[in-house]
Amino acid sequence: MSELNANPADIAKFYDGASALADKYFGGYQRQGYWYDDSDDATLEEGAGRLTRKVVDTLGLHRGERLLEAGCGTGTASIDIAGAYGVRVTGITISPVEAARSRARAQQSGAAEQTQFEVADYHSLPFADAEFDAVVAFESLFNAYDLEHALREFHRVLRPGGRVAMSEISKTTDASPLKRPFPLAREPMTAESWTKAFESVGFVVEERIQSRRVYVNTGKRHLMHFESVRDQITEEFGAEMTEGIRHGMREAFHLGPEDVTYLILCARKQ
Ligand SMILES: C[S@@+](CC[C@H](N)C(=O)[O-])C[C@H]1O[C@@H](n2cnc3c(N)ncnc32)[C@H](O)[C@@H]1O
Repeated sequence: MSELNANPADIAKFYDGASALADKYFGGYQRQGYWYDDSDDATLEEGAGRLTRKVVDTLGLHRGERLLEAGCGTGTASIDIAGAYGVRVTGITISPVEAARSRARAQQSGAAEQTQFEVADYHSLPFADAEFDAVVAFESLFNAYDLEHALREFHRVLRPGGRVAMSEISKTTDASPLKRPFPLAREPMTAESWTKAFESVGFVVEERIQSRRVYVNTGKRHLMHFESVRDQITEEFGAEMTEGIRHGMREAFHLGPEDVTYLILCARKQ
């Protein structure tokens, strides 16, 4: 069923490795954050937490609702959301290493009651129809090897009236030279193509936010931060891997807002 030349085992292996770096050096997040401008001195964790709120606020969650986080990394956002919004969160990831780290983090932060973490592939969710009130996916769907199938699964596990929110680095126009972040990922899409993908499986897209700030300001922060911890990363992961990451980050952030935008999209199951 794969649209891409990628399989779940390869993707899991990639994230088994990537999450160690993110946990130790990037505050537990493998994605962008939100800063207003160059004078904004919010830390990496604060910036990422702000973006969590911006995305989750589009869902209009009510206390006690059940939220699925699809592609939960090491659980940082799920735990944050459970505490801030009073919802029960199930986080799933394709990486067994991430699921184990998520559970450990939930125990350490006293959130084990409100959260649960499982290894699962969002193309084939181990949940009943209509089990969730909402689904959220932060920079997770760009890994989908069959996007339509994954979105149909989100639709299936949501109750009627349930909401889904996602955030992704996206192309400003079809002509944008934005490349996939690594070989297993999908080709980046525009806001219009994301909208069509959600609509094609029966969602009604209710909100679309396109931010110039997220990509531009995250790029500056992440590149600067990487240089400040580069020696430590080299010591721990070796020079070759460190140079690979450095190159990847420079590639990822070399474009401007005319080519790249950050998309937050929220849709509802009728
Ligand atoms: C770029 S990371 C983002 C992690 C986290 N959402 C964050 O904001 O830090 C992508 C996440 O998607 C997960 N993922 C990729 N493909 C998946 C799949 N088919 N099913 C479930 N999770 C998947 C990865 O394991 C990883 O946790």
